[in-house]
Amino acid sequence: MDLRGKHIVLGLSGGIACYKSAEVVRLLTKAGATVQVAMTEAATHFITPVTMQALSGRPVYVSQWDARVDNNMAHIDLSREADAILIAPASTDLMARLAHGLCDDLLTTLCIARDCPLLLAPAMNRQMWAAPATQRNAAQLRADGVTILGPGSGDQACGEIGDGRMLEPVEIVEDLIAFFQPKTLVGKRMLITAGPTFEAIDPVRGITNLSSGKMGFSIARAAREAGAEVLLVAGPTALPTPRGVARTDVRSAQQMHDAVLAQLRDIDVFVAVAAVADWRPASVSDQKLKKANDTDTPTLQFVQNPDILATVAARANAPFCVGFAAESENLAQYGEEKRRRKGVPLLVGNIGHHTFGMDDNEIVLFDANGMTRLPRADKLALARQLVSAIADRLPRQLP
Ligand code: C5P
Repeated sequence: MDLRGKHIVLGLSGGIACYKSAEVVRLLTKAGATVQVAMTEAATHFITPVTMQALSGRPVYVSQWDARVDNNMAHIDLSREADAILIAPASTDLMARLAHGLCDDLLTTLCIARDCPLLLAPAMNRQMWAAPATQRNAAQLRADGVTILGPGSGDQACGEIGDGRMLEPVEIVEDLIAFFQPKTLVGKRMLITAGPTFEAIDPVRGITNLSSGKMGFSIARAAREAGAEVLLVAGPTALPTPRGVARTDVRSAQQMHDAVLAQLRDIDVFVAVAAVADWRPASVSDQKLKKANDTDTPTLQFVQNPDILATVAARANAPFCVGFAAESENLAQYGEEKRRRKGVPLLVGNIGHHTFGMDDNEIVLFDANGMTRLPRADKLALARQLVSAIADRLPRQLP
């Protein structure tokens, strides 16, 4: 319910991507928003107002002469309560009209009369997007404070391949949610480790743990929403990369260590969320280990893995470091001890070790001033609170 309490005016202009706007309404309402749809006349040739009305639960407006609005000023009334106007799809022609301040139909008039943010999700053929006039209009709209989402790249309805595809509905709604988050980390670079590691025994076997990566990926998303540039080093997990996050996939603790050190330059914040294996088999067999007889059992020798967090925290000019601890008992004592041992200003304790793979979590923050408990919530909500707690603790830049 990331858009709870938000009222969104969803505008549709003419383009085949209109068929995806039905899904945009579904996702907006699922996220808790109320949605008022306004369409250009051209859009009604691609999807009917009846469909959009049924999904949004409100009458749809197309004409600026629509007499259903009491004072006959639909262009003012429809956006007055709005937290944002989102136009998806935004056609080449609509962008041109908006860039020039034209208001020759209801949707463009709504936009010029608005007192809320405007976001556009362009959708057009790759040559129409690349056309100098469209690029000029996009630059003008950005300069006017309009947010342009995408466009994406790939197969187009016309059979061509290139830039200009409308973002997928789920991406549009994620970007809108991000748009509303406080921008507490603008200009900061954050490096995050997430997920489990996998320590090979032989070519087909290994030792891993139950970490799903959900908490680390949620922190990556929350930090990106807050405006940070985010680098994510992920152990084996099937989770999708959060939008706008640069991801490096690794398998073992040693690879994770190397990937972190290789990307540490100019990092302001390092968050070690990964459940890194403490040990790895001392040697990896080139061939699959074979069972010699019915009673045969292998014996494994282990060596310690490098402690990535402690290594980073001990460096000269270390970034602001945040560690995690999953303890099954005595969290208050072990958490603070671990914070000191690792040499980090902030340590996040998971209450209980049953968080692995779950969608929600309960955490405690340990810092030099003591401990603060955050109530149980889903991992993204906790990640946003943690990002704000990190932002509060970063050294202030002089203006
Ligand atoms: O010592 P312990 O594994 O309990 O510490 C957990 C914290 O240290 C987590 O933040 C984890 O990502 C980090 N860690 C690490 N490298 C290791 C082991 C743990 O960065 N080899």
